[in-house]
Amino acid sequence: MEHKRTYNIAVIPGDGTGPEVIREAIKTLHIVTEREDFAVRLVQFDLGGERYLRTGEVLPPGVVEKLNKHDAILLGAIGHPEVKPGILEKGLLLELRFQLDQYINLRPVILYPGVDTPLKGKDAEDIDFVVVRENTEGLYAGSGGFLRKGTPHEVAIQESINTRFGVERCIRFAFEFCRRRNRRKKLTLCGKTNVLTYAFDLWERVFYEVAEEYPEIQTDYAHVDATCMWMVKNPEWFDVIVTDNMFGDIITDLGAMIQGGMGIAAGGNINPNGVSMFEPIGGSAPKYTGKNIINPLAAIAAVQMMLEHLGEERAAGRIENAIRKVLLQDLKSLSAGQMGYFTTEVGDLVGKYIKGV
Ligand code: IPM
Ligand code: MN
Repeated sequence: MEHKRTYNIAVIPGDGTGPEVIREAIKTLHIVTEREDFAVRLVQFDLGGERYLRTGEVLPPGVVEKLNKHDAILLGAIGHPEVKPGILEKGLLLELRFQLDQYINLRPVILYPGVDTPLKGKDAEDIDFVVVRENTEGLYAGSGGFLRKGTPHEVAIQESINTRFGVERCIRFAFEFCRRRNRRKKLTLCGKTNVLTYAFDLWERVFYEVAEEYPEIQTDYAHVDATCMWMVKNPEWFDVIVTDNMFGDIITDLGAMIQGGMGIAAGGNINPNGVSMFEPIGGSAPKYTGKNIINPLAAIAAVQMMLEHLGEERAAGRIENAIRKVLLQDLKSLSAGQMGYFTTEVGDLVGKYIKGV
């Protein structure tokens, strides 16, 4: 008997609307595998706010080892209104990114035809770039602390950690990615060399050093504040942007807005030599939970990114085409409750287009 290529996928539906959008993402995954010559084996992991409130556990011992045995991870959302901010974000999401050494956060910003952008006069041709965000260092490294906490002389220190190793592997990934993407072949370093004269001095030096190995790629530099300005004014200038963890976090929320909203924004936490994790970047959206009105397309796009990463380009292409059709022909809006369809119906539409009926 012929054995199909099989991928072991860990699924973390998580909190809020996470399980609802993941259900549609998995539905899509099954429909696409039926049309391809590979299979998937899914294992669900119960992690997130509900589990924490039930048992006090955030990331129990042994879980990372188990996740590490999979080919990829699909994550819904982490964040619970009854859990103090920071516990799940730092204890689970960031901990997974760090422990699995997912040192790249890859966030495409694509405006699909048929989707409204708040940017006047811009359309699908103008908004098509990818942010390569460093995902294990910077202000996120957790370096710092309090002195004299709670007193009038309190000191709070939060340091940005930038290692030569961490910066270089991120910049190298960005150059390679830009080459493979083969679009405008332009890589922009987004930093703040005029103020953060240590951290971004390192980034800038490494950037131009590595650039020598990629003569076909045009390099550019923009301060983070100017990057925000250009993303609004001239988004067509960007092809690939590489930046640190904090700036990447901020500019990708802006990116999600100019591509039509959180309903479509997906990202990948990539460890090129290990296990990567794919997620819709919109969060757990507690107020929409259980209403069947949240947009599942970002989670479905996360599956597309996951399949691309696994080398299943054709399957990923099928999903992308279906997403494009739904956006062009069906959805009234990307926003929760305004799509003109329920969450499950959007998943059905994607499935219908993949099946070609
Ligand atoms: C994101 C989120 C996370 C981050 C939070 C939830 C810790 O905003 O994935 O962008 O800051 O990285
Ligand atoms: Mn963010």
